Amino acid sequence: MTTMTHIPVLLNEAVTALSIQPDGCYIDGTFGRGGHSKAILAALSDNGTLLGLDRDPEAIKVGQQLAQEDKRFTIEQCAFSTLSQVINERFWQGKVNGILLDIGVSSPQLDQAERGFSFQYDGPLDMRMNPEQGQSAAQWLATAEMTDIEYVLKNYGEERFAKRIARAIVETRDETPITTTKQLATLIDKASPFREKHKHPATRSFQAIRIYINNELGELTEALQQALDSLAIGGRLVVISFHSLEDRIVKRFFREQAKGDDLPSHFPVTADQLNPTIKLIGKAVKAGEEELKVNPRARSAVLRVVEKLA
Ligand SMILES: C[S@@+](CC[C@H](N)C(=O)[O-])C[C@H]1O[C@@H](n2cnc3c(N)ncnc32)[C@H](O)[C@@H]1O
Repeated sequence: MTTMTHIPVLLNEAVTALSIQPDGCYIDGTFGRGGHSKAILAALSDNGTLLGLDRDPEAIKVGQQLAQEDKRFTIEQCAFSTLSQVINERFWQGKVNGILLDIGVSSPQLDQAERGFSFQYDGPLDMRMNPEQGQSAAQWLATAEMTDIEYVLKNYGEERFAKRIARAIVETRDETPITTTKQLATLIDKASPFREKHKHPATRSFQAIRIYINNELGELTEALQQALDSLAIGGRLVVISFHSLEDRIVKRFFREQAKGDDLPSHFPVTADQLNPTIKLIGKAVKAGEEELKVNPRARSAVLRVVEKLA
């Protein structure tokens, strides 16, 4: 089992935002290496409960270890887009006091060459958070239409040379299958007309392909409504995102739910009569200087919090 570490991002901020009730029932939808889970457990009494979810088998092994040490904790391997099912199986509908989603990849996923997430290490071009499900990045790139590759690079990576890179991928794969991270990184480097300062030319494409392979935006979109449905009145949903596309999904969803019914603006009703389902708690939170010094990966993290009203 790997014991590589992941420094939890916005740890105190996330736990404070959950406003933990010591005897409450909580879900950490992205267990990872359990940094946030351990802090939640520390705030719970002996009667509190925490369920961890993750789709990565390595994360699950760490969670199983924690479950043996702490009877208040259980772990389940699943995608968080199946949250409703997880809740229904436990008869927890409307009873959960807080849910945390710290989305994206963990440091161990990025830092293990054999997971194929990083252009910095040579490994098989995989990128699946659950390597037992779905197609790997190599499998997808072997058959995808050039226009689909271009779409993914442009929309999920904001890669302005998406067309050139997509063409280079298709031309290369006709000669040799693209099966390793180094092969892909080198190909992208050659296809990019110039380098941005302090940024490898493959950064954006790797991020884009990873987001696509793991359906990260779809997972988030599906999970948000399910998370709200499972919360008790007064329960909190805390989401930490790492990418502007993710944060936009979270921000819009929260704004719409907090606004309530969509009536024409001239209707003579007060804000409460629009039946908002949540209230926004504070503004978006970002990592401070101190955290960034010890964990530069926290740079793009944004935390948002809401509380269920009805
Ligand atoms: C940023 S890490 C979380 C780190 C964790 N908070 C900690 O302190 O160790 C994100 C984790 O969420 C998992 N993950 C990402 N998307 C997921 C999804 N849709 N369903 C379940 N787990 C997911 C990843 O496998 C990864 O382990």
